[in-house]
Amino acid sequence: MSRAPVRIAPSILSADFAALGAAIAAAEKGGADLIHVDVMDGHFVPNITIGPPVVKSIKRVARVPLDVHLMITDPDKYADAFVQAGADMLSVHVEVLPHLHRSVAFIKSLGVKAGVVLNPSTPVVALEEIAADVDFILVMSVNPGFGGQKFIPKSLEKVAAVRTMLDRAGNTAAPIEIDGGIDLSNIARAVAAGVDIVVAGSAIFNAPDPTAATRALKDAATVAP
Ligand code: DX5
Ligand code: ZN
Repeated sequence: MSRAPVRIAPSILSADFAALGAAIAAAEKGGADLIHVDVMDGHFVPNITIGPPVVKSIKRVARVPLDVHLMITDPDKYADAFVQAGADMLSVHVEVLPHLHRSVAFIKSLGVKAGVVLNPSTPVVALEEIAADVDFILVMSVNPGFGGQKFIPKSLEKVAAVRTMLDRAGNTAAPIEIDGGIDLSNIARAVAAGVDIVVAGSAIFNAPDPTAATRALKDAATVAP
């Protein structure tokens, strides 16, 4: 079975928050497939970013689906608000959810794709019992909290192990997303390891031309099977 084309999800974390509409349009012009929105609460991660009202405004201008990454201690409490605001994909961290099966089912019941995220120090086995139920898995390749951090190379082995686990659970259609430190130097290796959705923040929005940077990443992700 041939793989679906790799999708690029620019993370607006590194964009100018006073000009998000322009940033999103620039990334879309370069071929962005999704817009990745990093929600941080100052508890689960040290940083604080944006909430549902901003997602709602972004939704009005974005032409591609919104991939909302919740880095918050109580995602169960806020999932509905982010879906109402316009999230199309919603991912939650395994590290904060003792009732992950219920959380995933709840997100699905809201009519959006449910993703589960693993921090770099969280073992793949944490997914074992939920692998058949998820719509996608997000592998963090930096410790969440900030853009512009250095890629952790061991994440690639983890991607391959997650693929094996999803396939063994019969969830062959669930894509694997990677987030953190991705740029032109490592995107092809990530795709070769089994990544289907690539998040990139600083590599796009700290570049002089975010449209060209998005296009370059997309081209580099399109490797021969
Ligand atoms: C990190 C966020 C990432 C971040 C990626 O906590 O989840 O989405 O924006 O930024 P880069 O691509 O600069 O590592
Ligand atoms: Zn993210």
